[in-house]
Amino acid sequence: MIVKYDVEAEAWQLLEKSIIYYQGRPIGTVAAIEPGPDALNYDQCFIRDFVLSALAFLIKGKPEIVRNFLTETLSLQSQEPQIDSFKPGPGLMPASFKVESEDGREFLTADFGEHAIAKVPPVDSCLWWLILLRAYVKVTGDISLFHQKHFQKGIKLILQMCLVHRFAMYPTMLVPDGSFMIDRRMGVYEHPLEIQVLFYTALRAAGDLLLRNDDSSCNLYNSVQKRLASLTYHLREYYWIDLKRLNEIYRYKGDEFGKEVANKFNIYADSIPHWLMEWLPDSGGYLAGNLGPGRMDFRFFTVGNLLAIITSLASDGESQSIMNLIEKRWHDLVGNMPMKICFPALEGIEWRIVTGCDPKNTPWSYHNGGNWPVLLWLLTAASQKTNRLDLACKAMEIAEKRLVEDSWPEYYDGKNGRLIGKEARKYQTWTVAGFLVAKALIENSRHLDLFSFESHEYSNPI
Ligand code: GLC
Repeated sequence: MIVKYDVEAEAWQLLEKSIIYYQGRPIGTVAAIEPGPDALNYDQCFIRDFVLSALAFLIKGKPEIVRNFLTETLSLQSQEPQIDSFKPGPGLMPASFKVESEDGREFLTADFGEHAIAKVPPVDSCLWWLILLRAYVKVTGDISLFHQKHFQKGIKLILQMCLVHRFAMYPTMLVPDGSFMIDRRMGVYEHPLEIQVLFYTALRAAGDLLLRNDDSSCNLYNSVQKRLASLTYHLREYYWIDLKRLNEIYRYKGDEFGKEVANKFNIYADSIPHWLMEWLPDSGGYLAGNLGPGRMDFRFFTVGNLLAIITSLASDGESQSIMNLIEKRWHDLVGNMPMKICFPALEGIEWRIVTGCDPKNTPWSYHNGGNWPVLLWLLTAASQKTNRLDLACKAMEIAEKRLVEDSWPEYYDGKNGRLIGKEARKYQTWTVAGFLVAKALIENSRHLDLFSFESHEYSNPI
């Protein structure tokens, strides 16, 4: 008799093994379960990585660790008015933290990016924190947590930091390069899609979490709604690319002057990359990777596009177009391991200039066109939302076959993700947790409620 190997049971065992305890209570999970002798910071709990563990625990009916995590990370939030500009400003949440001990006493130390390469602030941490807090409340119904004064204060600090009017003429958020999952130079500075979709999702979550019990909270709530209206309009209107839009850009006039110009961002047709003209299928479309003055980044970024579907930032029609693109360009975007973090890779002189010759981000490796199994959960959630579950099942079949055999790597390399990533950690926690969340989503579409949003028509801000 052949006994089928229980991949899920192995994944659960690994996830349990990854738990970090603080004063006897579970508060997070390490980034990699077996980080090896050169652990760097992979023995820490990353906020963005933990979101996947948290969703797996919430789905499994184990919310305690998530509650503890939300409480402890809130206590690590930077709250001081910024006097020292080398330190994190108020509202910022750390990228990661770890438990340390001295004379038998345990304490937490947070890293806001100061310890990691190039000192990039993790813009996404506070956004994920809001999204996770809403998911926790949805599953448990425990409203007492976010009603607490210090939770409301934490939420407000995040919103104030994100909504402050600086040197900007767009509703999108201006950020430095590498301030999210892609945390090294990759040309994802200014207004990268990945951050803008997270920003939109976090604002929608904040709309559910912010209590309107005094004037200042009511004003903040109104600012959130206003920003959502303009952000949604801006992203839908200007980031969207399909064949029709590509044709328009291709025939744009440059250097137009005045109010009613067609080419609002002064994009030159010559900046359309050659690969795109062939690659974009008739029935497909996607949101561009970035948009700024004289600059449209035509690369496809997975987190932003899939999250836009899940949170209804993309319209129903656009969501179907994104899924069509994934189906039609399956070999490029999914290949041998779901799925590519972005497409295509930066090569040659572009790689030299944009990444600063980063040896970890060589073409088709790591953040530069590598395949990340953690992204399977987003593909599955987007497939559920668009009624295209066949795509998720196909991707799951590929992942399930390889992940156990390859010891749950962090990422894969190569144009189609055939090789285990050159410097990939094995037993990477979010690979494991992402797999479990994807499995649960395939089995039961109700889990989508944890982090999805219904579509909402905002009044035209223009
Ligand atoms: C790498 C990834 C980052 C992740 C961290 C821990 O730095 O770029 O996105 O959070 O590893 O897994």
